[in-house]
Amino acid sequence: MKNKSLVSIDDLTTDEIMKILDDAAEFEKNPVQDLLLGKVIATLFFEPSTRTRLSFESAISRLGGKIVGFSDAGVSSVSKGETLHDTIKMVSSYSDLIVMRHPVEGSARYASEISPVPVINAGDGANQHPTQTLLDMYSIRKTQGTLDNLNIFMVGDLKYGRTVHSLMMAMSRWNTTFNFISPEELKMPEEFKLYLDNLGLKYYEHLDFTDIISKADIIYMTRVQKERFSDPIEYEKVKNVYVLKNSMLANTKANMRILHPLPRVNEIHTDVDSNPKAYYFEQALNGVFTRQAILCSLLGIK
Ligand code: CP
Repeated sequence: MKNKSLVSIDDLTTDEIMKILDDAAEFEKNPVQDLLLGKVIATLFFEPSTRTRLSFESAISRLGGKIVGFSDAGVSSVSKGETLHDTIKMVSSYSDLIVMRHPVEGSARYASEISPVPVINAGDGANQHPTQTLLDMYSIRKTQGTLDNLNIFMVGDLKYGRTVHSLMMAMSRWNTTFNFISPEELKMPEEFKLYLDNLGLKYYEHLDFTDIISKADIIYMTRVQKERFSDPIEYEKVKNVYVLKNSMLANTKANMRILHPLPRVNEIHTDVDSNPKAYYFEQALNGVFTRQAILCSLLGIK
């Protein structure tokens, strides 16, 4: 690792990513081991979470580690006005590694600069969610047999969706063709398109994907991020713009799989859940094995 923290997916080399995916495959075969015995991991969630927090805590528990932290900053001294700086200073003295979710973009990088122990970014505002990306890549490799030359459709809130930002950056290393499907208001931000431009990679932007769905290897659906809108009227305009239904999947490739970082609201109809191409619940389970591999990697545990 360039440093011991994982803040952006670009903190990892390609070899480090592949090692984490390979280790995750081993953890999937054997998830209960004593590798974190004696380690204390802090989970600081300043924003709500189900999968990220609980899969980290499950991963830690199955490896024999202990957990301290909070799932609601309102029960911590943040509610009395304590700064992020002081919170990180204190928690880093109680733990061997910090997992943090925070609504402010850049907060994880800031925490990593203060903390003497590794910090894992569990989502910083609309910026990045690198551990989600690693579990997404694990899911892609597992279902496609490769990461190379895939056609990935990213659908929904590409403006505020931190998972698509991290995943796009990571998959750009494997000659991916990207199709970005979003309403005008929620297009992929210019900085991320510039990232692809600088690599000489092609991407295509669409308002609809029903006519091109047969080309997809992965359809990565996303929730419109209500909590990032300052104007509720703007959210109302776009909240129902894409709803994937089972009837839309008839002409899709045999290898195609539907991913979603979850939670979903209504962007995948429940009639898709029983389709063998729906992979989002298995994807969330893969988060446990991938996070076991990430924790051991950052803590230098072989
Ligand atoms: N995918 C994801 O980050 O889910 P949670 O918000 O439930 O952690």
